[in-house]
Amino acid sequence: MDPYITEWLNLALRFAHVITGIAWIGASFYFVWLDNHLENPPQWKKDKGIMGDLWAVHGGGFYEVAKYRHGPEKMPEILHWFKWEAYTTWLTGFVLLTLMFYVGADIYLIDPSVADLSQGTAIAIGLASIVGGWIVYDILCRTKLAENGLVLGLILMGLITALSYYLTQTFSARGAFMHVGAVIGTIMAGNVFFTIMPSQRALVDSVVKGVEADPSWGAKAKLRSTHNTYLTLPIIFIMISNHYPMVFNHEYNWAVMMGIFVVTALIRQYFVARHKGNENVLVPVAAVILGIALAWAIAPEKAVPVAGQAPLVIEPGKVKTIINDRCTSCHSKANTDELFTAAQGGIILDTLDDMARMAPRIQARAVDAKDMPFMNKTKITDDERAYLGQWIAQGAVIK
Ligand code: HEC
Repeated sequence: MDPYITEWLNLALRFAHVITGIAWIGASFYFVWLDNHLENPPQWKKDKGIMGDLWAVHGGGFYEVAKYRHGPEKMPEILHWFKWEAYTTWLTGFVLLTLMFYVGADIYLIDPSVADLSQGTAIAIGLASIVGGWIVYDILCRTKLAENGLVLGLILMGLITALSYYLTQTFSARGAFMHVGAVIGTIMAGNVFFTIMPSQRALVDSVVKGVEADPSWGAKAKLRSTHNTYLTLPIIFIMISNHYPMVFNHEYNWAVMMGIFVVTALIRQYFVARHKGNENVLVPVAAVILGIALAWAIAPEKAVPVAGQAPLVIEPGKVKTIINDRCTSCHSKANTDELFTAAQGGIILDTLDDMARMAPRIQARAVDAKDMPFMNKTKITDDERAYLGQWIAQGAVIK
């Protein structure tokens, strides 16, 4: 396919994916909030079967929300469901994943320095992890473990850690992160499709027939929505971390991802508790401290001058040679790379002036996070990275 068309498809899909994701998570945050802010209603409402009510003002009008203990006496003609937000987020995400990582497997999914997979094998592993992840999760939620939320949560956390480790040893760092995100997203959308929606249909059915709803449906749906609540922040972080190589390109990137998981789930936990009025400020404080500790632990090593040793004399000409050899094929006004035919990320590194201007970005990507050159296609050496680092440390002079 023409790379220009692929780029537009990519942009359009990403746009749709982000918008639908905002609608899904926004609605889900809103309903968690609603549930936790219901007030004790006046007697006349209680007589109608209303268990909690709430008043709000928004966008120029007053809203009165009432939650029924069982259901309305008569089914209203129009009932809103909130399910397409979840389905469209999953669908747009899946098409985007396919376009970028499966059609473009050679570029984004397969990193020969990690595992030299064929395109077919890589795609098979990717799809198997997404489908398999859902099946294993779903089976576990149907066992007796479901009665002990904490134990089940810890087992799931252990499994997702193992999967992250396996994928980082199989795919490119980005591909691995994106697949862990896809597994989590599939679990969340699967929960809506296979459990939460059927339980709502059962509820509606029981109201229409005027019978008691089967309570087992409610319990199942509750477990799955609780999981979804705790997964919202980790999944968003994993998705956007794909733009931050200091996170995904770290040697122990699978452990970094799990650290982020814990930090972001703690933050969600705080808000859930806060809505119920029993928040503990120590939880977000712990999350922030853990987050900073994580950032500190994965910080790139800085080249420290050895006492008594004169600093390395840097020749700008050698810097230019290194960058021209290792970077300019993809970062030039006239790219020579056969796949990346325009200056990638808008970064042009033709002249020493260009290089000096981009020094902080060169530091971030080629010296610290080491995810440039892209999958080290041009085979930069560690010594060359260190040389660039020294050049920048000494002020990126060009004469
Ligand atoms: C094989 C192609 C290829 C080579 C070689 C390459 N890059 Fe890149 N570069 C990319 C692609 C693709 C992107 C856009 C995706 C991204 O940002 O991760 C990019 C983006 C960047 C960015 C922009 C993003 C930002 O963080 O501002 C910088 C800086 C960068 N590369 C630096 C370098 C340096 C320095 C080298 C050489 C040491 C290099 N690249 C070699 C393909 C390449």
